Amino acid sequence: MKRKVILTRRYQDEAIRQLKEAFDLIIVEDSGKTLPEILKENSDTEALISFLSDKIDKEIIDLAPNLKIIANYAVGYNNIDVPYAVKKGIPVTNTPEVLTKATADLTMALILAVCRRLVEGDELLRQGKFKGWAANFLLGKELDGSTLGIIGMGRIGQATALRAASFGLHIIYYDRTRKPELETKYGYEYKAFTEVVKEADIVSLHIPSYPEIRRLFNKDVLDLMKKDAVFINAARGDLVDEAYLAEKLERNELFGAGLDVYEHEPTVTERLLKLKNVVLAPHIGSATYKARMAMAQLTVDNVKQVFAGIPPQNLAPECRLP
Ligand code: NAP
Ligand code: GLV
Ligand code: GLV
Repeated sequence: MKRKVILTRRYQDEAIRQLKEAFDLIIVEDSGKTLPEILKENSDTEALISFLSDKIDKEIIDLAPNLKIIANYAVGYNNIDVPYAVKKGIPVTNTPEVLTKATADLTMALILAVCRRLVEGDELLRQGKFKGWAANFLLGKELDGSTLGIIGMGRIGQATALRAASFGLHIIYYDRTRKPELETKYGYEYKAFTEVVKEADIVSLHIPSYPEIRRLFNKDVLDLMKKDAVFINAARGDLVDEAYLAEKLERNELFGAGLDVYEHEPTVTERLLKLKNVVLAPHIGSATYKARMAMAQLTVDNVKQVFAGIPPQNLAPECRLP
């Protein structure tokens, strides 16, 4: 008998093919049913492949008494109640590294688009308002010589710093774990969290989200930023008080913002939609063909490894034995 595996949504065909070949696969999206309904009918499910938009809470986990792995199709796994999964002895895996460069590229795209007012210019041109080259038309911020403040110098933070440095940006950073080797090798400067927020011309978030740091960028922190600074978030929306960020942008208390993630996805604070000084991407950080295929492959590999009794290659740190 093939083992039962649930995939919440359709993803890369090649990964689905591999899953179908090896397992008894149920795709929730194709079933016309909800995940709880499917789990109730299939208590023999041994693996769950989830998306970041699926809330995998206690109730869901309790509906799957035979679950041996939750394989998340994302590097972030704040959608999963990991402490509860750990308590129940269910490993949680993610898809790190394969999406690092794609997400860092998207971060650079947001930085460039905001600083050079690219979307504002595109809109204006389509509305027939481009009247010709002019000396003071759509002037923006030059990256060369500006300071980029990275919050979270992990995989994506580092890949962003490398790209940004080649544009002439000076890099300062805060991370809960200082990285002296990067300071020596690349000349990045480590600073206290509030110093980075205060000094940077561009602040870019690259930390994971978890309950203790929800809305880390609240009014007090956002108000520390320079009046002409740029705020970039391609990490998680709930790290930021989105309504307050919108207020600041409305009042022109920042130069602009570039966002890929939102506090209440897929809903976006209405006021942001009306602002010219913000570039809004629909959570596409890892959305390249190459990254998404590699992410899908990792979910398949992690499931197979757990079934083979091998420690999965992408076990979430919280699930590792001390
Ligand atoms: P990572 O390699 O684990 O990097 C995260 C870094 O943040 C680590 O250096 C970590 O330090 C640090 N950190 C964690 N909590 C912190 C805190 N409270 N204060 C300061 N630093 C803290 O993860 P990654 O692969 O770069 O991914 C980062 C996040 O980006 C993901 O969790 C995900 O939410 C988001 N993401 C978004 C997209 C998108 O589509 N927009 C795509 C991919 C990822 P330690 O080393 O001590 O843990
Ligand atoms: C995307 O947001 C991810 O965490 O992979
Ligand atoms: C601009 O197009 C220039 O030639 O400077």
